[in-house]
Amino acid sequence: MAKTRGHSSKRLTRHVLLAVSLSVSVLLPLLLPAAAATTAVAVAEGDGEIKSALGAGRHGKDKGELVAEGDTAGGGSVEDDEFAGGFGSLDSMLQWAIGNSDPEKLKEEAADVQKLSADELLKRREEIKELMEKLKMPSDADLMKIAIADLKNSSISLEDRQRALQELLVLVEPIDNANDLDKLGGLLPVIQELNNADEEIRITSAWVLGTASQNNALVQNQILGYGALARLVKMGYSSSTEEAAKALYAISALIRNNVNGQEAFHSENGSAMLQHILVSDNIDVRLQKKAVFLVTDLADFQLNSGNPQLPFLSDRLFLKSVVDMLSRFDLDLHEKVLLAIKSILKLSSTDAEDFESHDLEGVLLRLGVQLEDLTPEDQKEFAGEVDALRREVQTLFQQKLKQK
Ligand SMILES: *[C@@H]1O[C@H](CO)[C@@H](O)[C@H](O)[C@H]1NC(C)=O
Ligand SMILES: *[C@@H]1O[C@H](CO)[C@@H](O)[C@H](O)[C@H]1NC(C)=O
Repeated sequence: MAKTRGHSSKRLTRHVLLAVSLSVSVLLPLLLPAAAATTAVAVAEGDGEIKSALGAGRHGKDKGELVAEGDTAGGGSVEDDEFAGGFGSLDSMLQWAIGNSDPEKLKEEAADVQKLSADELLKRREEIKELMEKLKMPSDADLMKIAIADLKNSSISLEDRQRALQELLVLVEPIDNANDLDKLGGLLPVIQELNNADEEIRITSAWVLGTASQNNALVQNQILGYGALARLVKMGYSSSTEEAAKALYAISALIRNNVNGQEAFHSENGSAMLQHILVSDNIDVRLQKKAVFLVTDLADFQLNSGNPQLPFLSDRLFLKSVVDMLSRFDLDLHEKVLLAIKSILKLSSTDAEDFESHDLEGVLLRLGVQLEDLTPEDQKEFAGEVDALRREVQTLFQQKLKQK
């Protein structure tokens, strides 16, 4: 029984691969029968001087030879055509499609094609067309349904579950497919996988949710409606950098430019999670950069929408954790933190005196010295940019203090 299951999943993977690679490289020439026929005719008529796409001014009585020369001349689309003609079976086509990079084998297959006459080539092309029709490429919706059915099946193996999620990850990239995910009953099963005991599964499902909701208000609201944000915020506390990073990715995609999402983030205490990431010394700095980036993004959204949904951005303790990050030794982090402070300073809800109480002035001055004196030679240019930003923040801060 389990064998059958595994087999069908493998088939699905092959279908996905096939769909992805065939559409680009094999189907294209096949779908252009006119162009293919023209090439073939040019070859067929080639008794004397032949000027075709295959190479100008070649003599050739032997039609096969001409095709061969076209190959060595390396004309892009013509070459692809010939490879398409060289596949006698779906399996060999598959092998090629999934990136068979054995050059000897490719050469052999190309050589086989070169032995064919123009008529035979045409016939071959017809055969492949028929084959494609028989194969009946499954639609993306079909593939999504199979993956969703797998996710809903509590008796499939962990491996098959992970594979189903990975297939969905690819499938939900186009916005139309992402919009279909809930209609096909797939959103809830993916959200449920956020609770899986297996970390890899949790990571991949967060990834799917982030990808599906990216720049997509419909899917954002569907996921928020199912209450997935609470779970993602918890995942942000994970001691696994990878898991916390994917949770942050999904959260960012969910609440970006979305007022509902930002309100939910606030009520789920998302700011405490961000603060946890910012203040912990033993957290991967890449994760901290992602968190700071999210802070800037949220502040900019508030600035542009004039909608103060996120009071934590002006919270005194939160500001402290942001300012404290400037004491680290990481130029890239400095830049991101300065950008965040710049955006936060512009918020009307921010009190400059809160920054003052965390000695922003002194921190900025020390950072200036550090950028000047401690930067390795190969980073001087970047340090110059960061320093310009630092001065900008300093000016903005002083102005805001005066306005009080
Ligand atoms: C669920 O998976 C098991 C094990 O792979 C399989 O035997 C069974 O047919 C599947 N059930 C459904 C409804 O697909
Ligand atoms: C938010 O989280 C912090 C830190 O865990 C906690 O102290 C605070 O009580 C929480 N607030 C709410 C409203 O849950």
